[in-house]
Amino acid sequence: MNKPKTKAVEMRNITKKFGDFTANDSIDLTVHKGEIHALLGENGAGKSTLMNVLYGLYTPTFGDIYINEDKVNITNPNIAIEKGIGMVHQHFMLVETFSVVENIILGMETTKGIVLDINRAREKVKEISESYGLYVDPDALIQDISVGMQQRVEILKALYRGADILILDEPTAVLTPQEIEELMSIMRNLAEQGKTIIIITHKLKEIKAAADYCTIIRRGKKIDTVKVDDVTEEQLAEMMVGREVSFAVEKNPMETGDKILEIQDIVARDNRNLKAVDGLSLEVYSGEILGIAGIDGNGQSELIEAITGLRPIESGKVLIKGKDITNNTPFDIINSGMSTIPEDRQRRGLVLDFTISENMILENYYKEPFSSRGRLNHKNIEKFTDDLIEKFDVRPRNSSYLAGELSGGNQQKVIIAREITNDPDILIAAQPTRGLDVGAIEYVHRYLVKQRDSGKAVLLISFELDEIMNVSDRIAVIYGGKIVDIIDAKDATENRLGLLMAGGGATDEEK
Ligand SMILES: Nc1ncnc2c1ncn2[C@@H]1O[C@H](COP(=O)(O)OP(=O)(O)OP(=O)(O)O)[C@@H](O)[C@H]1O
Ligand SMILES: [Mg+2]
Repeated sequence: MNKPKTKAVEMRNITKKFGDFTANDSIDLTVHKGEIHALLGENGAGKSTLMNVLYGLYTPTFGDIYINEDKVNITNPNIAIEKGIGMVHQHFMLVETFSVVENIILGMETTKGIVLDINRAREKVKEISESYGLYVDPDALIQDISVGMQQRVEILKALYRGADILILDEPTAVLTPQEIEELMSIMRNLAEQGKTIIIITHKLKEIKAAADYCTIIRRGKKIDTVKVDDVTEEQLAEMMVGREVSFAVEKNPMETGDKILEIQDIVARDNRNLKAVDGLSLEVYSGEILGIAGIDGNGQSELIEAITGLRPIESGKVLIKGKDITNNTPFDIINSGMSTIPEDRQRRGLVLDFTISENMILENYYKEPFSSRGRLNHKNIEKFTDDLIEKFDVRPRNSSYLAGELSGGNQQKVIIAREITNDPDILIAAQPTRGLDVGAIEYVHRYLVKQRDSGKAVLLISFELDEIMNVSDRIAVIYGGKIVDIIDAKDATENRLGLLMAGGGATDEEK
């Protein structure tokens, strides 16, 4: 390297406090122009906070920011946008009933009336799409496109506003492996054309595959910035957690018992009234983890919703320990012994303006020991919650914190803690480790295995093949709303599963 590159972003000594709590503690971050820079850290380490400071959503308590080597004062996102900074948030901010183009120009000045603006915008969106390989249908409604597409819209929106520096907060957490590949190549295109990218991710593989540099943050402090080529995944994990992390899941041989969950030939329709689950049968036994592998959109979400009482079952039956629970209410299904770690945790999992405690007992507050004779027992609730916070390492360790004040990963830990400790006969775990850091993933995997070892049944649905292969005892492959094969996890290879998941040659057709 001869000429030193421009520093696109320089954050010096950034401290951000929320009350007494220091989320960012004198953090320095330098990102050069055209670089892909990863931010790595445990759930609650302070990554989103730091980026929200850069984007003007939070004002730092101390510290200075330089953009292209000029000192700036970013007091709100409009200023950030003016300085060429764009951000795609951990949770998307699109209007579902609006089209792609409408969302892209939303909130921008209209000079010539909305119709003209839309026509002009459509042209410009096309141009940007083509130059970076970010393909979307400009006139599609947000509610009709996949999550991966929605994310492209968010990226396009930022580029449309002239972003040269793009912040992506856990962009891959919600994507399928195919979509992740596509995003990685989009990122490389952007960087090659001089854009600067800061990406937050928990997936070490992605950092190795796409990033040039990585800054590690632990408990609000910067640990180091490293050149990605110089470190291994293990070293990254260790720097982040501060201890060695084991990636392998240890398991004893399984001892299966009774049939716990029985799904008999069920049919359920998706939101467009098409048969998404199309005559699916499956049995899960006590003492086993059954993994469902499949490409997104093959009926996984609808299957979970159908068996948990959230989506009507048109025909067929679902039984828990022989008891018919077909089309029962979610409440009755929970009481029949099923718990779910839901896939869409933002929408289904938490009440954001309730405290951690209140969220932990959401489904059980009226039961002993949380209530007696119609009154809440606050002492018992507190003890229960504190226990879970400790076990699941929810940070901060404070049950009166509002769920909305927790980091994304810590919100997930609260839901997982609540669902798992219901001690269900059958646990449905849908994408249970999405958005979690490696330490938390290790914990959840161990917990699933523990459930299994204590004679419970676990149904695991995940897009991460590694997770499916590591954790499951048997693997069922879903394709076109049916289980096309079930294999022993010992005999599973990525290749074999990949072939089955593709339905023997067919691929998922995304427009
Ligand atoms: N508005 C807020 N009020 C109080 N505390 C907050 C607020 N926002 C964040 N925090 C706290 O600051 C800490 C850092 O949160 P942040 O969202 O930056 O974490 P993160 O590194 O992005 O984690 P994750 O990987 O889970 O998304 C957390 O402990 C969080 O609870
Ligand atoms: Mg975050």
